Amino acid sequence: MDTHKWMMRYERLALWAKEAWQQRNGEAPYQLLWASENCGNQVVHTRIKPRRRLKGKAYYTGVEQLLCDEVISISEYVMPSRKPILGETVGAFAFSFSHSEGDFEVLFVSSYFRDDDPNIVAVALVPPEHLDAWADFEQLCNDTVRRPSRRTDVYIIGGTNAYFKPTVEWNEVILPPEIKDDLRSDMEAFFADGVSIYKELNLAPFRKLLLVGPPGTGKTMLCAAMARLALRKKRVVVYVSGADDDGASFHKIHHALNVVANAGYPVLLIVEEIDVYLRKDDKARILNVLDGLESPNNPRGALLLATTNYPEVIDERIAKRPGRMDRIIVIPPIQNEELALEMLRHYMGPQWQPEHEEVVPQLVGQTGAFVREIALHARMLAAHNRKRTVDLETLQQSVSSLTSQINTGDDLMPRRKMGFGSLRGNGFEAVETRTLPAADSAGDD
Ligand SMILES: Nc1ncnc2c1ncn2[C@@H]1O[C@H](COP(=O)(O)OP(=O)(O)O)[C@@H](O)[C@H]1O
Ligand SMILES: [Mg+2]
Repeated sequence: MDTHKWMMRYERLALWAKEAWQQRNGEAPYQLLWASENCGNQVVHTRIKPRRRLKGKAYYTGVEQLLCDEVISISEYVMPSRKPILGETVGAFAFSFSHSEGDFEVLFVSSYFRDDDPNIVAVALVPPEHLDAWADFEQLCNDTVRRPSRRTDVYIIGGTNAYFKPTVEWNEVILPPEIKDDLRSDMEAFFADGVSIYKELNLAPFRKLLLVGPPGTGKTMLCAAMARLALRKKRVVVYVSGADDDGASFHKIHHALNVVANAGYPVLLIVEEIDVYLRKDDKARILNVLDGLESPNNPRGALLLATTNYPEVIDERIAKRPGRMDRIIVIPPIQNEELALEMLRHYMGPQWQPEHEEVVPQLVGQTGAFVREIALHARMLAAHNRKRTVDLETLQQSVSSLTSQINTGDDLMPRRKMGFGSLRGNGFEAVETRTLPAADSAGDD
């Protein structure tokens, strides 16, 4: 009954790609090609910048990762406190290009040949009239992978580059739009007008924002998206990670502050899980930084974007002392069905079916990480049962098994233990504003 099993890997990828093509491009013609596996490499995706000019008068405009059940794609966002997941050179992607006669895309999918074989097979679907542009792009990918890493876009202190990648697009972060807009316009207003206001007041232009929320709500993702925006505006991005052998020690912060002060450009400084530093002996020094005694003086301005999962630590040391953080922004779990639906559709990708909507009410109050997990799990269950589609039953099964896993106190998501519910109404909203130059009113970007 199921001929799939007998197909070669290449054929299965091609079959998937053809279906995806039809969904995305209708009847537009394509040519199926063997492709270079390097086009799927994440390094390429960060290094080849949009607007890159190619042969055939085309411009590369970007890449979108697609969900493909032939390839188990591993999330590229790695929580710094966990084991890193490396070596992602397989996956499904849509590369987009612009051309005076109309934009076009190339669908690309690569996978390991067999589980126990390191060889990768890759296919691409290319509009026949743009083969020259694609060939050029492929060549560029090959060159990019072979070129040794010269300079990274994000200055990473602690950990390695694998820990943090500014590859998240702003619209991939699914949160209430007001939260996103607020954060983004805070950064833009600070760099546009805030810096000079701070200087007028004889203050080091150092603004401090804190993202608070339970694990898995998208704080790291938001930092990555902010980093991406900042890099586009030629700001320096410094990322401090506690995820290496040194752990969270103040000397990293110290090093970071030196880089920030001497960058010569506006800086976005990202410190994730700042609570870790506040628990240790170094906490007095961190507080000095936040209080302005040791803050970096970068004349072009520095914006600290810090995150924490633990509101209680923040409550004691920060929330009750206005001024230590200029803004505290709560990143909540999924608050309503509309967002839950958006999240589910996003993570079901091409496997989305209208009947899946039935589980949406169960996702309210859960996190983005949860939804991603149930979607992935459902897709794997379906693949395991050799089903082409994820039916509602499978999805429901996936929701309930992950929910009960969390309820039994599995450490996958220890959010129940943290009393996060107490955040609301305990004064967090009240400390949001500060009398010092809050550049908020300077408008949106
Ligand atoms: N708001 C969100 N929108 C889209 N995806 C999300 C969101 N929140 C979480 N995810 C998914 O869960 C993963 C983990 O989220 P992460 O940003 O690391 O959470 P946090 O830093 O808040 O603990 C992300 O990489 C993403 O795949
Ligand atoms: Mg995080």
